[in-house]
Amino acid sequence: MCGIVGYIGTRAASKILVEGLKTLEYRGYDSAGVATVGEGILQRTRAKGKLINLQTKLEGLEDPAHLGIGHTRWATHGKPEEHNAHPHTDTKERIAVVQNGIIENYRELREELKAKGHQFRSDTDTEVIPHLIAEYLQNPAENPDSDTVLTEQSSFLEAARQAVNRLKGAFALAMVSVDFPDELLVVRQQAPLAIGFGQGEFFCASDTPAIMPYTQAVLTLENGELARLTRMGVEVYDFTGHRLKKKPQTLNWNPIMVEKQGFKHFMLKEIYEQPGVVRTCLETYLDTSWDQQSGRSPINLNLPNALLDDLEHIQILACGTSWHASLVGKYLLEQVANVPTVVQYASEFRYAPAPLMANTLTIGVTQSGETADTLAALEMEQTRRSASCDERHAPRMLGITNRVDSSLSRLVPHVMGTMAGIEIGVAATKTFVAQLMAFYFLSLELAYRRQTISSARLAELIEGLRQLPAQLELVLESQERYVEELSHDFADTTDFIFIGRGINYPIALEGALKLKEISYIHAEGYPAGEMKHGPIALLDEKVPVVAIATPGTVYEKVLSNAQEAKARDARLIGVVPMNDADAEDTFDALLPVPIVDELLSPVLTVVPLQLLSYHIAARRGLDVDQPRNLAKSVTVE
Ligand code: AGP
Repeated sequence: MCGIVGYIGTRAASKILVEGLKTLEYRGYDSAGVATVGEGILQRTRAKGKLINLQTKLEGLEDPAHLGIGHTRWATHGKPEEHNAHPHTDTKERIAVVQNGIIENYRELREELKAKGHQFRSDTDTEVIPHLIAEYLQNPAENPDSDTVLTEQSSFLEAARQAVNRLKGAFALAMVSVDFPDELLVVRQQAPLAIGFGQGEFFCASDTPAIMPYTQAVLTLENGELARLTRMGVEVYDFTGHRLKKKPQTLNWNPIMVEKQGFKHFMLKEIYEQPGVVRTCLETYLDTSWDQQSGRSPINLNLPNALLDDLEHIQILACGTSWHASLVGKYLLEQVANVPTVVQYASEFRYAPAPLMANTLTIGVTQSGETADTLAALEMEQTRRSASCDERHAPRMLGITNRVDSSLSRLVPHVMGTMAGIEIGVAATKTFVAQLMAFYFLSLELAYRRQTISSARLAELIEGLRQLPAQLELVLESQERYVEELSHDFADTTDFIFIGRGINYPIALEGALKLKEISYIHAEGYPAGEMKHGPIALLDEKVPVVAIATPGTVYEKVLSNAQEAKARDARLIGVVPMNDADAEDTFDALLPVPIVDELLSPVLTVVPLQLLSYHIAARRGLDVDQPRNLAKSVTVE
């Protein structure tokens, strides 16, 4: 959720902090702030609303300080007002702290600190941290729970360590103090925090894009670690104060990936990147020399047999768009590989898990790899399966993520990367399509192992997958202008219905979610056959219905369901096969896609819906990339 940045080195910190915050603004944009330390002064500037408001405040302020921290906020505790914006300070304003996460026990800490005379100025959970550090600086804990007290290296570090040991919750922190002008402290506990290594300068951020323009050498902290950054280097400790040996890794991301490259919005750029993303997925996971006679699997998953063989069930845990991709995955895993599969909202599963099933593969799907509910659900599942005496319940855990450097990869032993490149737009587009690709590869690999489809059918589907990039290009070329024009008709629409069946039912859900999150239009997705069991009562001439009707088992059924909506005066928009007379007769507006195997159709049918939601939101003049109330990765419960 919130974005954190920090810098220590030789350059003006505030410029680097603001540049970093620009790349992290997608993580939260309720308010922003920076604090710098230089020449005996802790200078703090904060502003409500978007980062631009902070930039305006900083304009003309001469700030040569070489050390500082910054924050862009997605409000959890306290309204998005300036007094709640980070950084927060202690009573004497000697220490400044930024936080991403939630401090669950902040109320009791606040009462304790107030009783000792600390004065609070915000409604946030974060503010207890600088006060707690100030308290431990003045009165170090009598029985520090460490056999390696850090006071010799730095009393700031030791006070911060003692404070962190009092905190309950999931959080990442960056901290500076005017009394320790050569130290930047950072902490990770269940929320991401990376450190960038430059020449005589060091960076920290809650996500690597903020570091990428300066260095590719990055160390991602593990949970329960705190680090001290000076101009001389980085020291990493665990929460008991033991020094740890850690080395940075080299990132293979490229700063160009986080630029709009001529597109008006990141979302549109990311929609257009989809043919390339699918190509990269095919290059990564398909064996190019495979043919039907080769007698081996066409898929290279690089996963152990023990994970995939003799499966009786699959359970998938995910949230939001990843949950929709997982529903397509369920369809494929059941219909192609014949493995009974359930898809659970991670946020529900973690408090009401189903009874353990034997020989079950658990898959966590999260593009960011940081979604708190998905991580917690996976951790819980791993723990309860490890505790079971029945070896058939042993954990078999797999992650599907776009960020192989994320917390997910630390949690589960096996990960499939979705190869989409970094996604900045809050509305997931290219990462959704990449998740679908991961499910094609997984289900075809399982189908091959379990011999649930013939090799001729396998070859047919592989060939179909290979055609997808060119077909995606065709959809984008043929529809962009028409969808833009069509969007004019919906500037004042308040409700939309999306319907689909079978493998395209999740696409109806995804189409509705895309429209809701960026255009703020109320939209619902339904399985088309369910409309007459209630939702059809909503329909009249003011409620457009978008139907996904592509050739296959349910094509005629969806057309009939669309006719039923038309009979209630709804305006009908159809995602339909190209050059199809039946579709032309039925729908008022057509969004045609090439005719493909029904199983592969979701990769194409989702694109017109992404374009439709994008253009409606852009037409309404909304902030497409940073819709209100949302954040790219939801790192709090
Ligand atoms: C997608 O458009 C949404 N912004 C959101 O539903 C997202 O898919 C969800 O928060 C899950 O994120 P994850 O894939 O990073 O876990």
